[in-house]
Amino acid sequence: MTPTGPANLSPAQAEALLAFWAEAGVDAMLFDAPVDRIAAGQIARPAPPARIPPPAPAPHAAGRPQPDVSAAVIQAQALAEAAGDLEALAAAIAAFEGCPLRFEGAASKAVFSRGDSGAPVMVIGEGPGQEEDQRGQPFVGRAGQLLDRMLAAAGLTDRVFITNTVFWRPPGNRTPTPGEQAVCAPFVARAIVLVRPKVLLLAGGASAKAMLNTTEGILSLRGRWHEWRSPDGALEIPAMPTLHPAFLLRQPAAKKRAWADLMTLTERLDRPHRPA
Ligand code: URA
Repeated sequence: MTPTGPANLSPAQAEALLAFWAEAGVDAMLFDAPVDRIAAGQIARPAPPARIPPPAPAPHAAGRPQPDVSAAVIQAQALAEAAGDLEALAAAIAAFEGCPLRFEGAASKAVFSRGDSGAPVMVIGEGPGQEEDQRGQPFVGRAGQLLDRMLAAAGLTDRVFITNTVFWRPPGNRTPTPGEQAVCAPFVARAIVLVRPKVLLLAGGASAKAMLNTTEGILSLRGRWHEWRSPDGALEIPAMPTLHPAFLLRQPAAKKRAWADLMTLTERLDRPHRPA
């Protein structure tokens, strides 16, 4: 232990350290004092880690000049407004050729939604991955299976409508660009207006930023209620940003934060409505 070992910590520092250990999976204490098994020679001192070359940059649209999507946004707005129900909206999306992603390697089928069209919860993810692209449904790969398990544990299985900020798979599963999200946004907004959920669950930073029109990171957005407003300002829906299930697959220790977000959401959902 260094001079700032647990014995020298203030109560607040000790609390933070315990929270950090708990998050890392340390949930039981065997002895009162720490045992340095490396100094005792029971564990070989680990060799310095081999230098790992940085990963090859993911194919990313950021940094490249972005196409002007303003005409496509106007077209999407007109098509979305004309859709009187979800079926018409799905057909409009399927026929829409204004999103550049459609021609960048997606299997051509639009991935729009799954779930209950009258659901009180609408989950909005980032964009389809490979499995979703092949099967034409959002959140059906590994991340989607984790999402389903979490929703089931929260008693929300039949109470969700699931979609994404974009409807075609970004090549190499890169994050969709703000331009790609802007082109699909009128359809997403129309879906919200047609489903009229009581709350939105925004899965991941790319979804939360696009839906709440902010540059704030997901770690500071999550766990707090925000307000989504329809483009005409007529509809406001509480929105809860949370960590993306794909992130949770890589960082299982973060699951408890996502679970806390879900619990905050269900608490609001099931809160008895009190007339003003
Ligand atoms: N990730 C998403 O954000 N959406 C999906 O549909 C699948 C994975």
